Amino acid sequence: MTALIVAAGSGSRLGGEMPKQFRALGSKPVLAHAVDALLGHPRIDAVRVVVGDGQDELATSALGGRDVGALIRGGRERHDSVRNGLEAIGGGVVLVHDAARPFCPPAVVDRLLGALDGHDGAVPVLSVSDTLAKGDSVLRDPVDRARMLRVQTPQAFHAEDLLYAFDEAKGAAPTDESSLMLAAGLKVATVEGDAMLDKLTGPADWARAEALLAARLVGRTGMGFDVHGFAGDGPVMLGGIAVPHERGLAGHSDADVALHAITDALLGAAGLGDIGAHFPPSDPQWKGAASEVFLAHAAQLIRDGGGLIDHVDCTIICEAPKVGPHREAMRARVAGILGVGVAQVSIKATTTEGLGFTGRREGIAAQAVASIRMELNQ
Ligand code: CTP
Ligand code: MG
Repeated sequence: MTALIVAAGSGSRLGGEMPKQFRALGSKPVLAHAVDALLGHPRIDAVRVVVGDGQDELATSALGGRDVGALIRGGRERHDSVRNGLEAIGGGVVLVHDAARPFCPPAVVDRLLGALDGHDGAVPVLSVSDTLAKGDSVLRDPVDRARMLRVQTPQAFHAEDLLYAFDEAKGAAPTDESSLMLAAGLKVATVEGDAMLDKLTGPADWARAEALLAARLVGRTGMGFDVHGFAGDGPVMLGGIAVPHERGLAGHSDADVALHAITDALLGAAGLGDIGAHFPPSDPQWKGAASEVFLAHAAQLIRDGGGLIDHVDCTIICEAPKVGPHREAMRARVAGILGVGVAQVSIKATTTEGLGFTGRREGIAAQAVASIRMELNQ
C-alpha cells in the first residue's frame, strides 16, 4: 500500500516565511512528521510526496534523506495535486493524506484499512461538539450538529476507483476525495478520526501542535564536572569571558572549566555521552578552541532532538580570581551561547577554605547541573 502526501500548497492562511509544510515544528519540519508517521506503519510499503512548482529544494531539505522516491509535481488546487499523485503511483490501495496534518496515529490507519473491506473508500471523521450556526457577522440559522461530521485525512481508496471518480467529476472542485467518490456512486465508509489529525490551517493550529509536541517531553537532568590546573600567564577564560588573573589555565582548548562542566551537564541530560566523545583532546582541530563551540554544539544537539533547555546552574570552585564581579557577564554570555534567557542560567562560586588543590591555588574546578525537557526515548 502507498501513502500519497500532498504538500504542494502555499500555506497562505498560516503565513510565515515558507509554506507551513516545510517549516520546523519542534525537532523537524511538518512534512517530515507526516512522512515519519506513515512510513512507521507496518502496512504502508511506500510514501510518495507531491510538491508545487519551485518547491523541490524546500521539500528535499525538509525530507532530510527520507525515502519517498521521486517528488511528484503538484497542481494549482489540492485536488489537482491529488490527481497528479494518483497518476504517478498507478494502482493499488492508496492513502491520500495532507502534509499539513503532521501527526497520524497508527490506529486510524488500521481502522481505515479494516473498513476498506466491503467499501470502495474509507475516511476518518469526528463529530462536532461546538454549536454550529450559519452566519457572517450575524448568527442566522442554527445547524443541527448531530448531522455534521468533520472529515479528516488520510483517506483510503483503491487508486483505480478514485481516478474513475475524478474522471466522472469532470473538473468539479471537491475539497476532499470522499465527496468525489460519493458523487461517482461509490461506497465510502466512515471510521473514527482523531484530534491529533487536525489540520494546521491558521496560527492557532500551529500553537496547538507545538503544545502537543511539548506535552510529550519529560524533564531530564544531567551533571558535569571539570578541573584545569594553572599554567602560564593569565587571563583565565571562565564562563565564556576573559577574567583578569596573573595565571592562566592549562588545557587543550581554552580550558574554560565552567563551560566544560555545563557542556557535560547538557550532554548528560540528553544521554549523549561526554565532551571528550564529541571533541576528542587527541584531535588537533580542537587545540586552543573556544569552549563556546562545545557548549553551542551540545545545545544544538538537544534542539535537534526536539528538546528544550530549561535551566543550567554552575558552581565555580577556586580561591582566585574572584568570580562575583564577573558573574552577571558570565550569565549573559552562557545564556547567549545557549540561546536561552539570562534567568535560565545561574553562575555561583565558592572557595574550599584553603583545602585541597583548589585551596592551594593549583587550579580551578567547576560543577554544573542542567535541566532539559526531551522525549523519554530519545
Ligand atoms: N495542497 C496541495 N496542492 C495545492 C493546495 C494544497 O498539495 N494546490 C496541500 C497542502 O500542501 C496541504 C493540503 O493540501 O498539505 C491541505 O491544504 P491546505 O491546508 O489548504 O494548505 P494550503 O493550501 O497550503 O494552505 P492555504 O489554503 O492556507 O493557502
Ligand atoms: Mg489551501
